Amino acid sequence: MIEEREHWSSSLGFVLAAAGSAIGLGAIWKFPYIAGQNGGGAFLLIYLVCVAIIGMPVMLCEITLGRRTQQNPVGAFRMLSPDKSHVANFIGFSMVFTSVALLCFQEYGWAVFILIIGGLIIRYGWTSAGILSIVTGFVIMSYYSVVGGWTLGYIIKAFQGDLNYVTEAAAANCFTSFRDNLAWAIPMHIGFLLICALIIVRGVRNGIEKWSKILMPILFVLMVILILRGLTLPGALKGVSFFLSPKFSELSAKGVLTAMGLAFFTLSLGMGAMITYGSYISREQNIFMSTLSIVLLDTVIATLAGLAIFPAVFAMGFKEAAGPGLVFNILPAVFNSIPGGLGWLWAGIFFILLSIAAITSEVSLLEMVVAFLTDELKWSRVKAVWTAFAAGALLGLLSAVSIANWSNIEWLHQILVKTFHIEQKSFFDMLDNFSSNWLLPLSGIAISIFVGWIWSTRKAVEEIRHGSHNFADVHLISLLAGLKDDPSHNNSKYHVLTLASLWGIFIRFIAPIAVTITFLHEIGWLKLK
Ligand code: TRP
Repeated sequence: MIEEREHWSSSLGFVLAAAGSAIGLGAIWKFPYIAGQNGGGAFLLIYLVCVAIIGMPVMLCEITLGRRTQQNPVGAFRMLSPDKSHVANFIGFSMVFTSVALLCFQEYGWAVFILIIGGLIIRYGWTSAGILSIVTGFVIMSYYSVVGGWTLGYIIKAFQGDLNYVTEAAAANCFTSFRDNLAWAIPMHIGFLLICALIIVRGVRNGIEKWSKILMPILFVLMVILILRGLTLPGALKGVSFFLSPKFSELSAKGVLTAMGLAFFTLSLGMGAMITYGSYISREQNIFMSTLSIVLLDTVIATLAGLAIFPAVFAMGFKEAAGPGLVFNILPAVFNSIPGGLGWLWAGIFFILLSIAAITSEVSLLEMVVAFLTDELKWSRVKAVWTAFAAGALLGLLSAVSIANWSNIEWLHQILVKTFHIEQKSFFDMLDNFSSNWLLPLSGIAISIFVGWIWSTRKAVEEIRHGSHNFADVHLISLLAGLKDDPSHNNSKYHVLTLASLWGIFIRFIAPIAVTITFLHEIGWLKLK
């Protein structure tokens, strides 16, 4: 490489940046309402299990791929793929045949789409998994910024005193009229993306790392303030017990699968974001401990978000299973019902927190695209950032406009309905569905199979071992018991249980199987109640 790749200045810098990517709308907005709909505590428990046995191993995979190759996701897969892969060829040719079959059913739109993907897989082999991640990342980046724009808009509204309603109906009304008013939605979307672009144009250390170190502590402090406020309300304990005591009767098989999908989303997995961030780590850092810290931080914040929200919701007598509107609609109403009249302040603090969380996540999505452009096309950082910004802003614009009203972009609506038979509420919903339910699990499966079976866990462990001796060389029991320095207890040369062997099993078997089941469920081929 001609130019030395920029690296994080410290492990802490990397952990905060990666935690910033993970902690976002997923942990603070999606997690509480989905937990609310799925039995509170029981869901929390299942979610924690999914994070531990699937999320954490897959994250370690991505970070290892990144650090090993020091490349963006496309480069990473290219560097480690074998010249010929029968698995990839098999998948590619199956897709070509599927496409021909679809032609017979006159499904021209889908036939062409699948043909292109099949062709990509045959031509590029496993590298196409990297291409898939970049495309998915770009798509998510575009519509995530629209929601990010809402959070910014709500800060302004909170401080202007516009969120002064106390009923659920008024709340919903306020939210939809805000969202559908393009004079707000568009500038906020572009402004949000602009903030992120301005952060990453300064580079990895002076941009992403520096701002993560400023923003993440603010986020933690704001969270604590909100929790203290929520917990000191009379009646709050009911919310705490709803959230912390598991009621398994309300949990369904579907809830379990939802928990797994959510774990993927909130940990920023399945899309190469962690490959990209991992590529800025130097060889000396302990990536096992870093992964553990990132996962713990994300999980703690998701749990705290529940603790900040449910006590207040219960204390004020609102419905806990209120759905996606829980945060945008209900929370301001809840804050306004708190005696003392400082509702605008609590709402303002909450939306600042949500914006910070969303900005640091969006930064990681944008950076992934930028890393691709600078590594593969050798563009300068400045050119890459502003091109990605412009393209994301445009695609996001379509989402924003379509949420307000599909008929604003009737041509696009017609293309989707006529060629793909997709009927969704908006372009935004279509992108969200397609990327989080299809592309994300697919690339999750690809990554775990690639590391587990193609690149091999052996080479991966070799990489993780740098800077993380305990991972592969110490018997897990000795490690946990504090006996790792006692030679008679440390018998890893007999290949007994180490963290590495546990991880290998998770990556080769548990993760691909579990993610495949989730995927089949999400797309409706496997019906669970
Ligand atoms: N993890 C973020 C959230 O919880 C969203 C996100 C950022 C993401 N980067 C990602 C999700 C990469 C999947 C892949 O809001």
